[in-house]
Formats: sequence, C-alpha cells, structure tokens
Amino acid sequence: MRYNFNEKIDRRENHAAKWAEMKMKFGREDLTPMWVADMDIKAAPEIVEAMAEKVKQEIFGYVYRPDSYYESAANWVAKRFGYEILPNTLIHSPGVVPSMSILVNMLTKTTDKILIQSPVYPPFAASVKDNGRQLIENHLVKDENGYYTIDFEDFENKLSQESVTLFILCNPHNPVGRVWKKDELEKMGNLCKKYNVRILADEIWRDLIMPGHKHIPMGSISKEIEDITITLFSPTKSFNLAGLQASFATFPRAEERKEFDDILGRMDVKRNNPFSLVAFEAAYNKCEDWLEELIAHLDGNMQYVVDFINERIPEIKTVKPEGTYLMWLDFNGIGIPQDKIQEFLINEAKVAMNDGGTFGENGKGFARMNVACPRYMVEEAIEKIEKAVKNIK
Ligand SMILES: Cc1ncc(COP(=O)(O)O)c(C=O)c1O
Repeated sequence: MRYNFNEKIDRRENHAAKWAEMKMKFGREDLTPMWVADMDIKAAPEIVEAMAEKVKQEIFGYVYRPDSYYESAANWVAKRFGYEILPNTLIHSPGVVPSMSILVNMLTKTTDKILIQSPVYPPFAASVKDNGRQLIENHLVKDENGYYTIDFEDFENKLSQESVTLFILCNPHNPVGRVWKKDELEKMGNLCKKYNVRILADEIWRDLIMPGHKHIPMGSISKEIEDITITLFSPTKSFNLAGLQASFATFPRAEERKEFDDILGRMDVKRNNPFSLVAFEAAYNKCEDWLEELIAHLDGNMQYVVDFINERIPEIKTVKPEGTYLMWLDFNGIGIPQDKIQEFLINEAKVAMNDGGTFGENGKGFARMNVACPRYMVEEAIEKIEKAVKNIK
C-alpha cells in the first residue's frame, strides 16, 4: 500500500459540511459523522500538487478549458469501461444534480411523468417534483438477504403509460449499492426504447466498483440505447473533489448538447473554476493507482461492517455493496417503532447517518452509512450502534 487511508482526520477545521451542518441536521454535534457522501480521506497527492501549482500562480481569474480537459475524461472512460466517447460530446456543468434539474426541464413538459427507482438518492425525486413534473416510482425489490433487484413487470407497466417520457437511472445505485449487470441494463434500455422513453443515466459512482463487479455504462449497451441516453458523471465521488463543483454530461445528440450548453451559457455557469480544471485532469491522468488502493480500502471497510453485523448485531440486516461507499442498513428488526429509528440512532447510538425514509417510502426503517473514512471511524460508529441496540431490551 502506497497510501495511508487510515490517517486520523479532523475535518472540523476544514469547514466540512459533514461536521459543520451536523447540529442543523441532527440537532446535536457529538455524533460520529457517517452521512454526507464525501470522504474523510485526503485527496491523491498528484491532485493536491496540481492545485498547489495553481496556488503558486497567485491568480484565480476566469479560466478557459484546454482540449486536454475533455480528452482526459474521454480517455478515462475508454480505459476504465472500454467505452469510446468523443471528447466533443462532453459538456462541463457545475454538478450532476444541477444537470439533472436542467435536463428535467429541457427534455420533458409539465404534464409528463418521470420514472425513478426507489429507494434512491433524494434529489432524484426532488428534481422531478420541484420542477413541477409528476413522479412515478418503480420500487426496487429486496430478497430475504436484503439484495435488491428490478421488478421488470412493474417497470414495463410504468413505462408503457403514455405520459412517461423520462427515466432517471442511478448506476451504481445510491443507496442500495447495486452495480447493474449487463442483462439488467439491456432490459431497461430496450424497454425505454420500446416505449419511447428517454434515459438520464446518473453514473457519478461509476469509478467506485468493488472487486468482482464491473460497471457498464448505459450508453455502451447499444447504438440505439446510446442515442436515447444522456449520461452524467464526474470524478468528484471517486477522488473526493465534490466541493470543487464540476461534472460532465455526455450528449449523443448534437442539437441537445447545444441546447444544454446554451442554458448554461444564459446562467453564465459554463466555466470551470481554476481548481476543478487542474484537479480533474490530474485525477484522470495520474491517479488510477490511488483509486485502486482506495477501492481496496473501501471494500475492507464494507466487509468489516458486514462481518461485524453478522456476528454481533444480527438484529440489523445489510448486504455488502457492489459499488459506491454507502451501506444500506435495515434497522426494522431492532425492536423499536419505525418512526423512532432515526431518533434512536441520533440520541442513543450517537451516529449521524442519512434517514432511509428520505430515499422513498420503501426506505423507511433504514439508514445509509458512509464508510469512506479511516477504519477507526467505522469501528467507532458500528460499536456505538451495537451498544445502543443491545441496550434496547
Ligand atoms: C447518485 C448521485 N448523484 C449526484 C450526486 C451529487 O452530484 P453533484 O455534487 O455533482 O451535484 C450524488 C451525491 O451523493 C449522488 O449520490
């Protein structure tokens, strides 16, 4: 191991949202923070060096993207996923969620329905409802072990409704940790094609794939599916750069790419800031080894939680995620009412996790635990949860 992901970190000095917003969100400040989806892990040295070089220049004015910026992203996608995309099909945007919101407006009418697969990252439902569109949900189904799959009969049923015009896919899926397999993607993509439904693929987690699993971009499945898919991605999750606020959108259709770019132009948010400009290129060009080591660390943290729960807190159910660094813990069996679980986690366990109910009705009784941190934090959090669960009786 070249990198130490177990270094003790104190982000209170870092204005980290995970710490600074804890009181606002959970009502107290003494919790082990396992929520906001960023990492309590330092960025790769090559990224820090690239940003330090910028600081040395001592000028932070407007910047212009060199060709090498989009090329580095396209090369990364080709190398990691075997998917060739032309650099000129990429567009910069200030974030995946902003892109989603813009695209909901751009691709649909207010009378349209938009399909999502719950439980899912809360901004999916918000970007639909807050933009005055109607939400329609294909609930993911969970087997007795807690492994989620797609109810394709329901999926097709929902897609076949006339007013459904857009499907927002989350791959890998936050929070259930699935990395959708080729046959699942093919089926989803072909059904969307059949019912003339566009696909917005949020693939922000695509680089964080655990050993034994493989990410397949939706757009790579076939030319027909690529043509109906707009893909959103970014190195911000994988390289812990979310605060730099930049991302990519891939548009197979030139006229839509222009329309999207024009919207960003009208809002004057077309530029990178000087730091995302150099950090993203450094991540894609120089930090693959770092990412591989990070994945091994995250996989170890996840295995640790799974083993701990199986051995010591069987009242909780979880499955090891195939991707992301988020664990989806089912607290429905701990013996307290579902609507009191989050309160219990805050006031008894003293661990800050995302309330499962915010990911959809079928997320109630769950909590999302972020394990992208040094192992000691994972140990602290899970031991506190164990103690609190044992104290219930
Ligand atoms: C599925 C998914 N999409 C988007 C985002 C946020 O993306 P951005 O910060 O680029 O808006 C997150 C953050 O957790 C996420 O989990």
